[in-house]
Amino acid sequence: MKQVLLFFCFTVLLSCTSKTKQEETTTKKVYDMYEPSEMAILMNQMYAHNLKIKNEIIAGKIPTEFPTDFLNIHIAELSDFKSRNQNFQSFSTLFVAAEKEIFNSESTIAIEDRFNNAVNVCVSCHQTECTGPIPRIKKLLIQ
Ligand code: HEC
Repeated sequence: MKQVLLFFCFTVLLSCTSKTKQEETTTKKVYDMYEPSEMAILMNQMYAHNLKIKNEIIAGKIPTEFPTDFLNIHIAELSDFKSRNQNFQSFSTLFVAAEKEIFNSESTIAIEDRFNNAVNVCVSCHQTECTGPIPRIKKLLIQ
């Protein structure tokens, strides 16, 4: 029971609001069957990877390698209730460009600013259709 509750909290915290609402209105069993989409899995990986990059930057290290897995944002399958619309395409292109800038050793912009810029693109895309994870994403920002 405790596990189910924990998982439910986790789902509510992480998922998009539309998904959460959908789950609340269906039967209790639904959250046992929650299967993250390819995109949801990728998003969680991007979160974890950017957290690592943030800690490296704070420790004074300069990250050098763009995580090519991030390019999967262009192909990963979304949950049923989402479509890869024009908006999503534009934001994913913007995001990949911003994330690549973090690893541009020739840039004259401070690494903290380049990192925060990429995180702000995560937030911008989320503001358009998937607001649930925004508070969590904002924690990635380097203060
Ligand atoms: C191009 C738009 C876009 C960008 C950029 C984007 N996201 Fe997302 N994110 C989404 C969408 C859409 C979903 C819902 C995916 C689904 O359920 O299939 C999502 C889901 C998530 C989730 C919830 C996953 C889950 O378990 O349900 C997290 C956490 C997340 N994103 C974090 C991030 C982080 C961190 C970044 C930047 C490194 C980022 N996102 C960039 C659109 C975006």
